Amino acid sequence: MHDPTASAPWNGGGADDKAALYRELIQAIGASLEGESDPVANAANVAAAVYHTVPGLNWAGFYMARGSELVLGPFQGRPACVRIPFGRGVCGTAAAERRSVLVPDVAAFPGHIACDSASRSELVTPLLVDGRLIGVLDLDSPFLARFDSVDQRACETLAALIGPYLA
Ligand code: SME
Repeated sequence: MHDPTASAPWNGGGADDKAALYRELIQAIGASLEGESDPVANAANVAAAVYHTVPGLNWAGFYMARGSELVLGPFQGRPACVRIPFGRGVCGTAAAERRSVLVPDVAAFPGHIACDSASRSELVTPLLVDGRLIGVLDLDSPFLARFDSVDQRACETLAALIGPYLA
C-alpha cells in the first residue's frame, strides 16, 4: 500500500504550486489544440499531456458519451473497461449527474468499477458542450486522497476548454 503522505510526489509544493502547474498545463493544451478539429487526435494529446504532467497518476483519459452509456476513448495507463452505463461507477455517476465526482477512497465508493487494481482515488469531470454531455475526463491515482478542490477546479477549467475540440 502506498503511503499517501511520505512518498506523494506532489506534496513538495503547496496549493499555489499545484495551481501554477495546472495553469501551465492548460495553456499548453490550449495551444496544442488550436487549429486541429479531429476529436480523437485532440483527446489523445490531452490524455498524454495530463498523464505526463500531473504527478501521482496511474490512468488519465476519456470516456465518450454514446447513447445511454460511456465508451472508452483515448487514454494513458493500463487497458480499461470499455463500456460504462450512465449511473454506474464513478464515471457513470459524473455523466448521469453532470458534475465532477471526487473520490478520496475508491474502496468506499459504492459501485466503483476497478479497471486497474492499483487505483486508490479518482476524479471524474464531465465534458459539457452547449449543455450537451459529450464524455468525461477520468483521472486515477494509486495514492489515497490524491485529489482535492484544486485538482477539481483545474479539471473543470480544462474540461470547459477542451470540450469543443473533442465534440
Ligand atoms: N473506476 C472507473 C472506471 C474507469 S477506470 O478507472 C479507467 C469508474 O468507477 O467509473
